[in-house]
Amino acid sequence: MDPRLTKLVESLELSKVLMIKICQAFQRHLSQGLLIHKNGGIPGEDVSICSLKMLDSCITNIPSGKETGVCYGLDFGGSNFRAVKAVLCGKGRIEIFQNSASLKESFQGHCPEGLVHAEVPGTHLFDRFSLQLKDLIDHREDTPMECSMNAENNPAVVPLGFTFSFPCLQESLNAARLITWTKEIETGRATECKVEGKDVAKMLQEAFLRHSIPARVFAVINDTVGTLISCAYQKSEDDPDCLIGLILGTGSNVCYYEPMAQEFNYKGNVINLEYGSFFDPILPRNEVDIELDRSSSNPGGQSFEKLVSGRYIGELVQKYCMKLDDPAVLDLLETYILDTKDAAALATLETSNPTSSNIVNTMKRILPSSTVNILKALSLAIFNRSADLISCSLAATVLRIITYSPEISRLSIGVDGSLILKNEFYFERVTCGISSLIESAGKKCDVKLIPTDDGSGKGAALVAFVASRS
Ligand code: BGC
Repeated sequence: MDPRLTKLVESLELSKVLMIKICQAFQRHLSQGLLIHKNGGIPGEDVSICSLKMLDSCITNIPSGKETGVCYGLDFGGSNFRAVKAVLCGKGRIEIFQNSASLKESFQGHCPEGLVHAEVPGTHLFDRFSLQLKDLIDHREDTPMECSMNAENNPAVVPLGFTFSFPCLQESLNAARLITWTKEIETGRATECKVEGKDVAKMLQEAFLRHSIPARVFAVINDTVGTLISCAYQKSEDDPDCLIGLILGTGSNVCYYEPMAQEFNYKGNVINLEYGSFFDPILPRNEVDIELDRSSSNPGGQSFEKLVSGRYIGELVQKYCMKLDDPAVLDLLETYILDTKDAAALATLETSNPTSSNIVNTMKRILPSSTVNILKALSLAIFNRSADLISCSLAATVLRIITYSPEISRLSIGVDGSLILKNEFYFERVTCGISSLIESAGKKCDVKLIPTDDGSGKGAALVAFVASRS
């Protein structure tokens, strides 16, 4: 192997011993976070003790799959957002109708980066969400016959769940204060009308009022929570209980069902770990990771997310490829920004077949095959590092659950996000990584990863449905 490549790839590999240590560090932060919460402190404030935010979801009821009715959701987690109408048909079946939009496209005339830009006042963002919902409500007669038999008639004020996939301090199910933006979103930062520090349920309800939209926010949830809830509703009866929700797309995060939540002073049983901010000296961050962090919108923040999530993998692959100092590669990548889809196409490249990525096809055309193979090896190493880190965090969460509830011998993890759902090799690696770490800890638990498409939108509607009935 080319010595330059060997060095770079080696800097990305996680040995089994290191994975065990990372898993143990994660368990330590998790346990410390619970204790801090129990004593009235804020997990995540002193990152040397606990860098996970461990937020209360205020969710107490996990649906059984038997609920029937109609409810709405708004789902915002990155540069896209959508309004969802969910028809709960019982027997774990949910029909959804949705309309989605991109924040970039919607406000191109107003500001080139769209509504995620720091100079856009927060109210504009919430106005845009509410209009998306209005559009869907105006077409609500589209409910399919089969389901509407069980569903409620359209109420005058529709119950709504808001999936807002950013760290929020949740005072109750329908009051959630945004702690900080992540995923490079900055709306309102440079204006008088900020979103950070504000209750996003209130901002949304005020936008409904401004636009005379007959909807009431019953719940604000994180997308991980939505995924756990909708997996619990939809999974087959033979599957083990769904106790963990994982998102691995633009951003990444985990929530889990904590059996002793009340003892640690939580109102709900589901804790949103906000593990994007996980930081421990044991984490393998090298020169390129530090460079990427420095040029991000939140240097020093979201260290774990910057190693694992889709928002950053393309950029990491680009930066590593440029480290090779190959003039032809530099030439190509100076005028093109790789995204995570390109990186995945590169990592799984088969020389005989064309890929879905234009830039990767160009690489194959103009670079010598030996160079393309080097880029492929680098890209694969970055994906594998991400998958191994995710395995460490999930194994640590499973170990937390089974250590304190030894009767649990099998559990499901609801999984959503394109990074894990669209890359089979990645999914497999995470599945094997979790089992192997649990075994190394001397424990036993069958863990099943269940793909839960659209979990965040469906979950919000489900939670709002249950809340509007209690
Ligand atoms: C956010 C989390 C979210 C995750 C996945 C992270 O950047 O902080 O709240 O769950 O992205 O969307």
